[in-house]
Amino acid sequence: MRKTIIAGNWKMYKNITEAIELSNGLKRELFKLDFESTEVVLCPPFTALAEVAEILSESDIGLGAQNMYWQDEGAFTGEVSALMLKDAGCQYVIIGHSERRQFFAESNETVNKKLKAALKHELTPIVCLGENLQERELNKTFTVIQDQIKQGLIDIDAEQMQKVVIAYEPVWAIGTGKTATPKQAQEVHKYIRDSLKKIYGDDLAQSVRIQYGGSVKPENILELMAQPDVDGALVGGASLKIDSFVAIVTKSSEVRK
Ligand code: PGA
Repeated sequence: MRKTIIAGNWKMYKNITEAIELSNGLKRELFKLDFESTEVVLCPPFTALAEVAEILSESDIGLGAQNMYWQDEGAFTGEVSALMLKDAGCQYVIIGHSERRQFFAESNETVNKKLKAALKHELTPIVCLGENLQERELNKTFTVIQDQIKQGLIDIDAEQMQKVVIAYEPVWAIGTGKTATPKQAQEVHKYIRDSLKKIYGDDLAQSVRIQYGGSVKPENILELMAQPDVDGALVGGASLKIDSFVAIVTKSSEVRK
């Protein structure tokens, strides 16, 4: 059985005061959640990490960053290393989000470098994959995903892979209000798991958690979670409000697989 994982990606929203308010509210509302079966992670902007870490320190909610650089330190103006994220209190990091691929020249090669550095420093990586609208319309979804998996996971062995979380986020569904249908999500999730099986074998492939991301809301989480290969969600917009994120987490935790 795979443990459900719901992560909130706050993107470039929330100043420190707002981040404190949101994380305090979530901690309070999720107090009674069964964290044995559901993992919850908040990914605020860098500037709020330390404060949110302080709030979450006495809770079972995890903390993640939205990006990192692969070097430990050096003259890399504007970058933040895995060591710095650990120091700020993170246990997770999102790698290769489509907005980073789209606007900040993230490639499968840089994803691979970041992934290795995250694993080296024992951060749990949430690696994002997904096709854009044009690729989907040209029937290239599986080819794109295949490249992202093959190149993103170069030199990652089975033991390391056990610690990786994958997030399938069709770019055309992010922030657009358009969710992939549960069937579309399941089809790609299964494809991802089958691809992992070819590389790492069935046992490992069955143990890797694959989140869905892209306009996840309280209204659609149950049908997404009902799919056999959907193990959680990476939530953007709906993670910015206490009510909607709590509803998503609570509903997911009721789905037993
Ligand atoms: P969204 O974002 O839920 O606002 O579509 C998801 C994401 O980009 O992680």
